[in-house]
Amino acid sequence: LSWVDFVSSVEQLGQGHLLRFWNELPPQSQESLRKQVEQIDLVRLQELVQGKDQRVDFEDLASRAIAPPAVLADGSGARWSAVEARDAGQAALREGKLGMILVAGGQGSRLGFDRPKGLFPIGPLSQRTLFQMHLDRLAAVGCYYGRAIPLYVMTSPATHEETIDYLERNHWLGWSRELLRVFCQGVMPAVEFPSGKIILEAKDRIALSPDGHGGLLNALAQNGCLQHAKELGVEQFYYAQVDNPLVASCDPVVVGHHLLAQSDMTTQVVRKRHALERVGNVVSIDGRVQIIEYSDLPESAAKRLLPDGSLALWAGNIAVHVFQGAFLDRTISLGNQLPFHRAYKKISTLDDQGKPQQVDGVKFERFIFDLLPLASNALAIEGKGEDAFAPVKNAEGAEGDTPTHARQAILAQHRRWLESAGAVIAPQVDVEIHPRLGFDERTVAERMPKGLDVRKTTYFEFSF
Ligand code: UD1
Repeated sequence: LSWVDFVSSVEQLGQGHLLRFWNELPPQSQESLRKQVEQIDLVRLQELVQGKDQRVDFEDLASRAIAPPAVLADGSGARWSAVEARDAGQAALREGKLGMILVAGGQGSRLGFDRPKGLFPIGPLSQRTLFQMHLDRLAAVGCYYGRAIPLYVMTSPATHEETIDYLERNHWLGWSRELLRVFCQGVMPAVEFPSGKIILEAKDRIALSPDGHGGLLNALAQNGCLQHAKELGVEQFYYAQVDNPLVASCDPVVVGHHLLAQSDMTTQVVRKRHALERVGNVVSIDGRVQIIEYSDLPESAAKRLLPDGSLALWAGNIAVHVFQGAFLDRTISLGNQLPFHRAYKKISTLDDQGKPQQVDGVKFERFIFDLLPLASNALAIEGKGEDAFAPVKNAEGAEGDTPTHARQAILAQHRRWLESAGAVIAPQVDVEIHPRLGFDERTVAERMPKGLDVRKTTYFEFSF
């Protein structure tokens, strides 16, 4: 585009103010700003600003929402048993058909930790970071089933460099670069509300933020990850968030249910602890499974009860999904059709004189779970909260989801595993197990010494 065409296209789309400080900028900054502007799909953005995309009427949706088709924790809800599901999942793991995706692009501002969340030390005794918790466990699972599981970690411009730097300094946590792919998601500009003007964060910089975990679709495709996985024989992807240290890696029971149901996308859920818990709600509407965020679900719907007094919309989203690779291929080839959600926030910018000020802004994000309504045979699998979900979201002192809550959950889980394997553990004593020595109840029973008598706080460490 010539300079004249560039300026006129920016102006035509009502974004001429972006070039407001142009004449003050040195050539390098001018070039950088132009690149930022050129990377934005201004026409698409204008459609979003004008609300031309389908706006969702959550009141209406919620009034029709019922619980999703689900396999419950007691095994009911499937035409096969949990043992058959486990067998199917284990067979897939032995055949190397699983890959894992970890999303780690969020900025973790609620936690008050100014580095990528994956670097947060969460191991209650080991101080292992969230990344270590995930990577050690996945390596252990791969090793147990005799087939290494490739891992795809999605970062964002806010977390990418520090994540790579951390991994390099720590020898990629023992992973080969061939099996650990780290790639960066895209961004979306923030716009002023209601004018729709793109916000300048500095004279030469647009306010950009990660495009939501729904940006995964584009990022996987652009970074050749699906092709890479295909070459390794991967057919299914297990998806989790870096902020949940308790999540199982490629849980064979979840994978097995997903395979036996021939589901395009399966999601693990836990029973909500109370009606207004701040988790997404997995629901079924007109025969399609979908997730309605807690912030979008009207209170009356969240509180609706069944005749037995239990919550009608009980299934809480813990963001553990299994995707069929072919389903991801299909949705990508149709173009990323995930809708954009809007988050209204105060955003820092410059006034006409270049002085800092705050304006009302909107950020646009896509959510990966919006794939659910597009999936055939989508299914929810109920997991137990104490074994599946202890997210690190809030700073210490908050009511829930703090590092302390997560550490307690890890300690309690490892104690349960050891005790069910026959160990005697003194009260007030803490135990943590490195996943190579056992990553679930069964493997702990198989691998840890029999008749353990634990009288002092112990980290059962694994050394290579
Ligand atoms: C999310 C879910 C919520 C669920 C909860 C479970 C959404 C919109 N909501 O809430 O339904 O109950 O997790 O813990 O997802 N991320 C990226 N790139 C982005 C944005 C986020 O990689 O652009 C990653 C983050 O690193 C994090 C995860 O996605 O691992 C969740 O993001 P976050 O914004 O923390 O979601 P929550 O509001 O906690």
